[in-house]
Amino acid sequence: MYPFKDEMVSIVISDQYQRKFLEDRLLIPSDEEDVPFLEWCQRSKFSDALVVELVLLFSDPTYKPDDSFSDISIEEILLYIKESHQFYNHHYLKKLEQLNTVHHNIIDTSNKTNTICILMNQFISYFRKHIIEEETQLIPYIEFILLDQAKHLFRPSELFAVLCENQTALYNEHDDHGKQLLKLIQYKLQQLSLQISNYDFQWSYYCHLINTFFVDLTIHEYIEDNILLSKARQHEQIALEKIRVQCRLN
Ligand SMILES: [Fe+2]
Repeated sequence: MYPFKDEMVSIVISDQYQRKFLEDRLLIPSDEEDVPFLEWCQRSKFSDALVVELVLLFSDPTYKPDDSFSDISIEEILLYIKESHQFYNHHYLKKLEQLNTVHHNIIDTSNKTNTICILMNQFISYFRKHIIEEETQLIPYIEFILLDQAKHLFRPSELFAVLCENQTALYNEHDDHGKQLLKLIQYKLQQLSLQISNYDFQWSYYCHLINTFFVDLTIHEYIEDNILLSKARQHEQIALEKIRVQCRLN
């Protein structure tokens, strides 16, 4: 079904560490047994097609899916974005917040005047706000359009009012301020690590979380800007057409 991609995914998940990471990240119930790739994909709440694309994206940051997402529904992309937000809140942001209040043997992040600590606190609050904005504005707007198209619940005048209120929502690219802050933190940590030779576990974990979160956000941004928004604009056009038709009839 996915020539060559099956093989790639099988290779990626044959690595225990990678498989464990992907199981946590893509909400795939883990099992000690090594199962064939298709069976592994089917444990996920996402379709095989989406799991394959995500595995390839996570294992190779240079991978460009191009139009591989054309058969994946917008509803599923929305589900992935919402699940990712939950994961960011409960995993990355929570752990980075905890690690930002402890003393490592290299940097004292419990010191509130430490530059890295300040930047990290800025990043955490910026990103939490970003998630809330998407969950309360962008996502409900897209869901409203989809609901109308599935069930024809709203009159054209109601639809028009909501479209007017959100006329720029699908044309704002993902703000990369969060990624820039993380990049700056990565740079400062790298500079610091050049002067030090004794890394403690917490320090290494702190750096690891920042690096993996950075890759995750790059994928998140790609999926939102290139896939979600582009699919949502097509649905928005259908909604506009429904309004135009109604105006012509009146
Ligand atoms: Fe986002």
